Amino acid sequence: MDQIQLFTARYQRDAAGFRWRIAAARGMNKAASTSFGSPAAMPVVSLAEWTASAARRMDAADLFFGHGTANAFDEACWMAAHVLGLPPDFEDFALGQSLTQPAFDDLERLLIQRIETRKPLAYLVGHAWFAGLRFEVDEHTLIPRSPIAELIHQGLQPWLDLDRPLKVLDVGTGCGCIAAALAWYWPKLAIDAVDISAAALAWAERNVAALELGDRVALTHSDLFEALGTRRYDLIVSNPPYVPERSMLELPPEYRHEPAAALAAGADGLDVVRRLLFEAPEHLTAGGLLLIEVGEAQAAAELLLADSGAVWLEFEHGGEGVFLIDRAACTALRDAARA
Ligand SMILES: C[S@@+](CC[C@H](N)C(=O)[O-])C[C@H]1O[C@@H](n2cnc3c(N)ncnc32)[C@H](O)[C@@H]1O
Repeated sequence: MDQIQLFTARYQRDAAGFRWRIAAARGMNKAASTSFGSPAAMPVVSLAEWTASAARRMDAADLFFGHGTANAFDEACWMAAHVLGLPPDFEDFALGQSLTQPAFDDLERLLIQRIETRKPLAYLVGHAWFAGLRFEVDEHTLIPRSPIAELIHQGLQPWLDLDRPLKVLDVGTGCGCIAAALAWYWPKLAIDAVDISAAALAWAERNVAALELGDRVALTHSDLFEALGTRRYDLIVSNPPYVPERSMLELPPEYRHEPAAALAAGADGLDVVRRLLFEAPEHLTAGGLLLIEVGEAQAAAELLLADSGAVWLEFEHGGEGVFLIDRAACTALRDAARA
């Protein structure tokens, strides 16, 4: 039986707007899915067999997914795309191809590295995908995965019209993903991006240059707004650190490979968010908007933002913990906190 017929691939777009197969291995026949109990036990016949086997071994090793993929099978497909030079959303027919011994060996090496080191795959292959764009990363940058990708695709409708010459600031740009994706999809925007990490900024520079966006995205080393003087923006976007101290201690091993400064944000996870909220009024135009991801600190942020007029955004493709607040509401919040 043709291997391809064994698959019932379904697709979804992840938070980054990236298409991944989901549960595609469910239709796998038993013989194929049980042949590979240990690494390199025997040569695999097809990519379909290898991905199913790899997924099973990753699940057995209790790996954590969430740094670009949501499950073991998607992770195996990403490994395959990397090793075989396939597009990340490769078509199902590619699963029917036979693996050469060198390709099989490379895949096995990558799989074993992933299992033994617990490093997120993005660090092992040196890149990640965000909003359909490729970003080079290493352990100095958070791996892009923000649901803000979906908002970029949608153009932040109905809140803003990104098809206008607006000034935008990305605070805590990391590898530059949010700033670059905004510039890529919305050519009229002029974008500044800052980060406190010089090492992350170096990656942002590389990524912005690779996408030929150097004339549209200006990168600055800065502690939040500090190096920006009196510059004001129509939109300030930030995916800041927001992991509460207690949660930092409980993160799966994969997170420990990411820079702690990109994750940790004090007792309630809002150390950086509070600063952003209170300092933003001096850097927003009248009517300007502040868009912040707070992830798991949402409950604490809801208390902070109660009755402020902030809006919690909804996502079609998964994700939560992102709010939007305008300059007037931000100013009122700051003034109330100072009173
Ligand atoms: C959660 S990561 C987000 C990275 C990227 N924007 C993304 O979405 O993948 C937070 C980023 O904020 C940066 N950061 C932390 N504190 C900062 C500060 N006070 N000023 C500027 N950037 C900061 C970190 O270095 C890190 O790159």
